[in-house]
Amino acid sequence: MHDVTHRPGTIVEERGEGWFRPARPVPFQQRGGAFASLLAMRRNLISVFSEADYACGNSATRLFGRQIVILNDPDSIKHVMVTNNDNFERKSPQMRRALEHLVGDGLFISDGETWQRRRPLVADIVHRNRLPHFARSMEAAASDMVSRWEMKPAESVFDVLGEMAELTAEIIAQTVFGQRLGSAAARSVVEGFTRYQRLIDSVNIGYFFGADEGWPVFRGLRLRRSIRQIHKVIDDIVARHVANSGDDNSMVELLVRRQARSPELGLDLGALCSEAATMFMAGHETTAATLTWAWYLLSNAPGVGRGLQGERGGVVGSRRPAVADVANLNWCRAVVEETLRLYPPVPLLPRQAANADRVAGIDIEPAALVVVAPWLLHRATDLWDRPADFLPERFLGTQRPPPYTYIPFAAGPRVCPGMSFGLTEAILCLATLAQRFKVRVAEGHRVEPHCRLSLRPRGGLPVHLERRG
Ligand code: HEM
Repeated sequence: MHDVTHRPGTIVEERGEGWFRPARPVPFQQRGGAFASLLAMRRNLISVFSEADYACGNSATRLFGRQIVILNDPDSIKHVMVTNNDNFERKSPQMRRALEHLVGDGLFISDGETWQRRRPLVADIVHRNRLPHFARSMEAAASDMVSRWEMKPAESVFDVLGEMAELTAEIIAQTVFGQRLGSAAARSVVEGFTRYQRLIDSVNIGYFFGADEGWPVFRGLRLRRSIRQIHKVIDDIVARHVANSGDDNSMVELLVRRQARSPELGLDLGALCSEAATMFMAGHETTAATLTWAWYLLSNAPGVGRGLQGERGGVVGSRRPAVADVANLNWCRAVVEETLRLYPPVPLLPRQAANADRVAGIDIEPAALVVVAPWLLHRATDLWDRPADFLPERFLGTQRPPPYTYIPFAAGPRVCPGMSFGLTEAILCLATLAQRFKVRVAEGHRVEPHCRLSLRPRGGLPVHLERRG
């Protein structure tokens, strides 16, 4: 697969007549020693892998005292995420510590009794049956973005990651919280989270040196400021609800009513804020990253862009795409699914084993770090044809990838509850914006996939627009 002769860790991007192999780090021949791995992980979590890691299979290693197990075959993935999920439902201390200041004990990082009590409540809020109720807000927010882009001076260069994050933050605010966010508040959350990702240590060294729960994250002044910036926006939303100004179907209303019916749920104001923050962050960052990566890929694959346009013309003609059209936008869906294969916004799913277990001949120790990595699985040389190439065609037609080979939304009881919401939103926004604009990556810009908490292009994605006639 990696027939290029670059230094490991270097980002390569290749293209030829009719094919595009987008940016990715060159793998190491062999994984480095403990210190080298730790340093590489702190720089970019997806740049530590060796060539062998990109094959379907499993491996166990040790970083200082801690056992690390990477599972990259469908049967083992099914075992830890479904069959024996109870033993692996706990997120790694790195992830819990890195997110706890932002989302408290929210669903994304909770486990045990708290997770069990709250999962059905949160999952109901974004259940696919509620999509028709969300449709108008999604369509309106995508249309507003078209109007904003129409105002941009020709050839102006802007960061499309920031704009996609503002768009998806607005969509979450309107659909789930029943309130308009407005561009100033949306920008404040987006900037706050960008800074948070930069400042937070994505590797909890204490965990590797024997602290099973990791060390608390040191919150310096700048980190505290980012947290405050994000919480201010979310707390205002919750406060407005508590003062009765949200709509009847909003998340907070639904939770408040549930709590009134079943006081044993213990949904106090703190829990409400944690779940609101979780929904807000999990629900906007991932879709924004997906859309940004899709623009990058489309900008480099004009043939795919033409396929997209042809289909959209046939399905919606010159009117604006609507949520009801999403089921018929097969090309657009294939582009989004292929984008999620190449650039899964949550590229690593790290778990902490509760008890000892044996998986595919590996003895897993209690408190081991068990990593399922969509980043590796989706690029496994023996599971995918031309794994590094951008080929949306592979998702056209009725054939689906075999079970547990494609998991951008995870799998099992902890599967993303916002999967239908996120897919619909991404397809609709892509179709709506691509109807009016071609998005071009700024000349000479080198794209680098970079993972700390989520997978983003490092430094954003500078682009300019071409209007379609
Ligand atoms: C393209 C968009 C999205 C992708 C790729 C995505 C991906 C994921 C993944 C991989 C997980 C599991 C993480 C893990 O197990 O470590 C997850 C969990 C979660 N996602 Fe999404 N997500 C997306 C959109 C959304 C949306 C739109 C919402 C809400 C509106 C949402 C809410 C959540 C929540 C609350 C969890 C935690 C679930 C639990 O632990 O029980 N996500 N997401």
